[in-house]
Amino acid sequence: MTLRHWPPLLRALLAQGLAFLGLLACLRLGLRFTPLVWVLLQATLAVFLSRGLGLEVRWILIQAAFPFLVWMFWNAPLPAWFYLAGFLLLALVFGGGFRTRVPLYLASRDACDQLAALLPEGPVRFVDLGCGLGGPVSRLARARPDGHFLGVEASLLSWLVAWLRCLPLPNASVRLGSLWRVNLSEVDVAYAFLSPVPMPALWAKVQREMRPGSRFVSHTFGLPDPPPARTIPVRGRPGARLLVWEVGPEADGYQPSR
Ligand SMILES: C[S@@+](CC[C@H](N)C(=O)[O-])C[C@H]1O[C@@H](n2cnc3c(N)ncnc32)[C@H](O)[C@@H]1O
Repeated sequence: MTLRHWPPLLRALLAQGLAFLGLLACLRLGLRFTPLVWVLLQATLAVFLSRGLGLEVRWILIQAAFPFLVWMFWNAPLPAWFYLAGFLLLALVFGGGFRTRVPLYLASRDACDQLAALLPEGPVRFVDLGCGLGGPVSRLARARPDGHFLGVEASLLSWLVAWLRCLPLPNASVRLGSLWRVNLSEVDVAYAFLSPVPMPALWAKVQREMRPGSRFVSHTFGLPDPPPARTIPVRGRPGARLLVWEVGPEADGYQPSR
């Protein structure tokens, strides 16, 4: 595995670490920098190395800002527990998506409405794989009292919010755990709003487990192949859309919508 195939977080840390070691080497050679110049050089070197390591634009921006943030907090008169609390909060909200490389961002109201229109008639069973704060699950459960709506979430704090939100709804439940452990043969519609990274593995799971006649909907993130049967633009962030695949009786588990 080459360096470019390492997870982005490790590549980002490597770039910052190498930049730091480079500046330490300059100190050993007798060069002296003011703190501001040090931070500027650290950010510039880290950005340069990050580009070489193939990091995406958003990571490059984080790499540029990181040394300034460290400098700012280094000088701030904050108690030690503040940093621990910040770390714990981030871990509780984003920790569950760390391995799948999926952050928390939320589907818009319009996306939920369009999703509701994709539910078949009758007592539908629906799952939101990585349900975040439970917005789609609770909205759909209210819109369709005849269905059952399950959310699965791996981040503790997000799960707690979603669970509390769905507590008053008799036809909604929220489970703490991994989406990879959900048996998709038990649902009529599976929905996910993740990231490009887990999509190929999720599609393989859909093909293995979902029954003919069921439906898989992905918010925004698609697959190189097969193309979705339908693409429905939704209001919200730029490029937001629902991609719909119908699971058919064919061997590859996919057929276009009629
Ligand atoms: C982009 S948010 C989508 C939230 C919600 N489904 C929506 O449409 O508004 C993705 C969520 O998936 C969760 N997640 C990531 N990997 C997961 C996994 N392996 N198992 C369960 N949840 C996961 C993240 O913690 C995050 O809350």
